[in-house]
Amino acid sequence: MVDRMNAPDPGWVAVDHYVADHLIGDDPAAALAANEAAGLPDIDVSPAHGKMLHLFARMCAARRILEVGTLGGYSTIWLARALPEDGALVTLEIDPHHARVARQNVDHAGVGHLVDIRIGPAREALDAMVANEEGPFDLVFIDADKANNVAYVRAAIALSRPGTAIVVDNVIREGLVLDDASDDERVVGTRLLFEAVAAEPRLSATAVQTVGVKKWDGFMIALVQ
Ligand code: SAH
Ligand code: DHB
Ligand code: MG
Repeated sequence: MVDRMNAPDPGWVAVDHYVADHLIGDDPAAALAANEAAGLPDIDVSPAHGKMLHLFARMCAARRILEVGTLGGYSTIWLARALPEDGALVTLEIDPHHARVARQNVDHAGVGHLVDIRIGPAREALDAMVANEEGPFDLVFIDADKANNVAYVRAAIALSRPGTAIVVDNVIREGLVLDDASDDERVVGTRLLFEAVAAEPRLSATAVQTVGVKKWDGFMIALVQ
């Protein structure tokens, strides 16, 4: 197993700050301050990863983006900033308090007109979106309850076209993904995700480990083919 507890930081946090100071530009930090004031957990993507998601959306020339797991809308703002003025981002959030804070944050960031926040369990919202044929989306970012990640990726495929990019956060979890004896539903869900994606011929995928202010974690990146 991986010795997480004794893992030192050989400079990951300092390097993340160096990256942010040089390359990130206009970080929507006001959203993070509002989240903290409203008591939301500090589990947003990092500034460097928010900018990465923004660049992914621009690489896809995304016009329609789907996000699962809004929290206070920090990643939402980064993604929405990549959209053209006639673009749209649908983001799914189970917690009405999170959704209220997110609404204020996306409005304050000047992207509110592009963002549709839907409150409720994401699986139900996704089923309705599939039934209503609301696809295809150009980019899907999955970052909610990890136990449902297989269902979220299946729904993302149902709402995709060939070339849609699917990005999943938190798939490494400080190496816990290797623990085949874990009874943590987040770890079990992540391992089931790897198996489902490996067995899915419609996806070509990889996972990229990350370190920095959010410790050791990583993203899965998949392309619908
Ligand atoms: N993407 C955000 C962070 C999301 S944190 C960012 O980087 O800024 C995960 C969010 O998923 C939380 O707000 C949590 O309330 C929400 N969530 C958890 N279970 C959910 C479910 N079943 N359906 C929809 N949202 C869910
Ligand atoms: C958790 C969830 C996240 O989306 C994240 O980026 C970090 C932590 C969590 O549920 O602990
Ligand atoms: Mg996350």
